[in-house]
Parts: sequence; structure tokens; C-alpha cells
Amino acid sequence: MSGLVKVRLAEEADRLPMALLFAAVAEERDGIAAEPPVDVERWAARWELDRTFVAVTAGEVVGVIVVIESAFGFGEIAMFVAARCRGRGVGTALVERAIAWAKARGLHKLTLSVFPHNEAAIGLYRKFGFVEEGRHPKHMRRATGELWDLIDMGLLL
Ligand SMILES: CC(C)(COP(=O)(O)OP(=O)(O)OC[C@H]1O[C@@H](n2cnc3c(N)ncnc32)[C@H](O)[C@@H]1OP(=O)(O)O)[C@@H](O)C(=O)NCCC(=O)NCCS
Repeated sequence: MSGLVKVRLAEEADRLPMALLFAAVAEERDGIAAEPPVDVERWAARWELDRTFVAVTAGEVVGVIVVIESAFGFGEIAMFVAARCRGRGVGTALVERAIAWAKARGLHKLTLSVFPHNEAAIGLYRKFGFVEEGRHPKHMRRATGELWDLIDMGLLL
């Protein structure tokens, strides 16, 4: 699939598709922190388009990565891929683009947070050299009331 997927900077017209995809991934209650209900209109409005990249196939947004830039030289990434398109290189293409953007931007480091059970995400990040930098026990309270650990990972650029 990666050959058919194009990664490009997000545009105005992507706002709603990105928010709808975000809401669909939140419905899984598994990989990303957000859980339903997702305020789609609010999310559509809040993407910073100049640091958000989309993976597009057949004219449809199937993946998103955002780099949240700090004032201290590092950026934090957050990402998600449509469930039906996972395991086919979309996430890899998105992380590649985020790293290239961060380097060009002069950032010295990328960071992220991930749930310990998220083997796909951790495998993806490790592939690029991200290492675990810390773990927050029982950090995130889920809608069920469960308390999930959160792992911090970082990559020096
Ligand atoms: C995590 C996520 C973005 C990965 O995207 P993807 O398009 O499936 O990733 P890729 O196909 O490029 O896979 C990249 C690497 O991830 C790892 N990986 C992918 N799926 C995996 C799985 N099920 N188990 C273990 N490792 C896996 C592999 O190392 C793989 O590299 P390889 O194919 O060279 O072996 C995607 O699963 C997703 O959106 N999940 C839900 C949202 C989420 O968890 N976001 C991240 C929050 S921190």
C-alpha cells in the first residue's frame, strides 16, 4: 500500500476528514488517549496545518501525524492510521515525514507518549530509533475507570 499512499502537508479541506478519522480511532478506546465522545467540529478547527501531515490514498485521508513544537527545541508527535490501512507502511511513511520536517525545522529531539500495550506503535517508534525514557504508572484514567500506565519515548535527531 505504501506505494499508493501519498504523504503531504495537511490542507484546509483535510480538517473535517482528519477529525472524523480521529473520532473513529477514539472509538477503539485502545491506541490513542482520546475516547468518545469526540467533538468533531472542535477537532476540525484545531489542527495546526503547517505542522500536520496526512497520508492520502484514493483521495481519502487514511493517516495523520502532528508535530507539536515546544519553545525548547523538541517536538512531540501524535499519530493515527485508519484501522483498515494498518500494517502496510502508512505509519512508517508518516513518521519518516515528521522526522524530516523536524530536522529541517532545526529541532533536536522528538518525543511521544504511548500506552505500554500498544505493540504496533512501540514497534514503529523503535524502528526509527525512539527509546523509552520513562514510565508514568497508572497515569491515564479511562472511561471504564481503569488506570493505564503511559510510556514516554524520545528520539535525538
Ligand atoms: C500505531 C500505528 C500508527 C502504526 O501505523 P501502521 O500504518 O500500522 O504502521 P506500519 O504499517 O508502518 O508499521 C510500522 C512498524 O510498526 C510495527 N508494527 C506494525 N504493526 C504491528 C503489530 N501489530 N505488532 C507489532 N509491531 C507492529 C512494525 O515494527 C512495523 O514495521 P515493519 O513493517 O517494518 O516491521 C497504527 O497502528 C494506529 O494508528 N494505531 C491506532 C492509533 C495509535 O495507536 N496511535 C499511536 C498512539 S501513540
